[in-house]
Amino acid sequence: MPFQRLDNRIVLTHPKGASAELLLFGATIISWKAGSQANPEPTERLFLSLKAFLDGSKPVRGGIPVVFPCFGPPTHPEHSRLAQHGFARSETWEFDSVVTDNADSVSVRLTLGPTPSITAKYNRSFHLAYVVTLEEHRLSTDLHVTNTSTSPDNLEFQALFHNYILAPADQILVRPLQNIMYYDKTETTEEGRNNAKVESRSGVDVHKYTDSVYEGAPQEYEVTWSGGGLRIRTSELKDVVIWNPQKKAGSKMADMEDGGWERFVCVEPGYVRGFTNVGAGNTWVGRQVLSVM
Ligand code: BG6
Repeated sequence: MPFQRLDNRIVLTHPKGASAELLLFGATIISWKAGSQANPEPTERLFLSLKAFLDGSKPVRGGIPVVFPCFGPPTHPEHSRLAQHGFARSETWEFDSVVTDNADSVSVRLTLGPTPSITAKYNRSFHLAYVVTLEEHRLSTDLHVTNTSTSPDNLEFQALFHNYILAPADQILVRPLQNIMYYDKTETTEEGRNNAKVESRSGVDVHKYTDSVYEGAPQEYEVTWSGGGLRIRTSELKDVVIWNPQKKAGSKMADMEDGGWERFVCVEPGYVRGFTNVGAGNTWVGRQVLSVM
C-alpha cells in the first residue's frame, strides 16, 4: 500500500521500494529510504538521534524539522514570545489529503493553522500546508505559507528545512559555496554579532564545529562523501545553513546520541537572513527536492 496512516505518523511507500515516514508532530520527516542508480537497495538517508524524543515533548533531533516563522532565537517583534526556530516543528499538524498516488510518486498534504496555543504566542492570521512527495530516488518538501489576514498587512517570516543528512561527517563536502558571504555563528564579534566571512573553500567540510549561515546562496547544492551523495535543489530559499555541532556542542545536547555528530551534516536551505513576506490573501511556497546521486 503506498500510503499508510498510523496513530501519530504517515508512511509513504513507492512501488520501487523507497519509503518515507512523517510524524504529525512538527510535520517532521523522520525517515527517508531510497536507493541510488548504482545501488538500488533502499537505504536510510536521514539521521535520527537514538535519543530523539518522538512523543511530542520536544522538537525531534533528526530527520527534517520545519522551521517557521523564525530561525534561531526570535529577532522580529511579532516573534518575541516564540522559542528558537519557531513553533511549526513543535505543534501537531493535521493530515489533510493524499495529493498524488500513482506509479511515479506518492504525496501527502499536512496543514497547520492558528490554534489557541499558537495564538497565545503568535497572534497573526496564517495557514500552513506542507506537501511531501516521494519518488523512486527523490523526496520533495513544499511549504505553503498563506497570509489569511483580511487587513492589508504583510506577513513577515523566516522558513527553513532543517535536513539532517545521514553521512560520515569527516568526509562530507558541500558545494558550490565558494565566494559566498556567510555568518559564522560559532564566533561573535565584540559587539555580539556573528562574524561575516567570505567562503574560500571549493568544498565546505565540517571537520570542526560548524554553524554557518550562507546568504544569497546558489539554491542548488551537492553533498558528497566516499560512495554517496545527495543533490538539493530549492526555490524561494535564498540562504543555506551548514551545521554540525561536533563533540564540542553535540555532547551538551541531551537528545543527541553519543557520537551522533560523526554521522550527519545538516544542510538547511531557508530564507533566514532578513524576512520574506506574503501579502494578505496570498501564498508563498518554499520548496526543496532532495535526490540521491
Ligand atoms: C541550526 C542553527 O540551524 O540549528 C544552530 O544554526 C542550532 O545554531 C541548530 O544550534 C540546532 O538547533 P536546535 O534548536 O534544534 O537545538
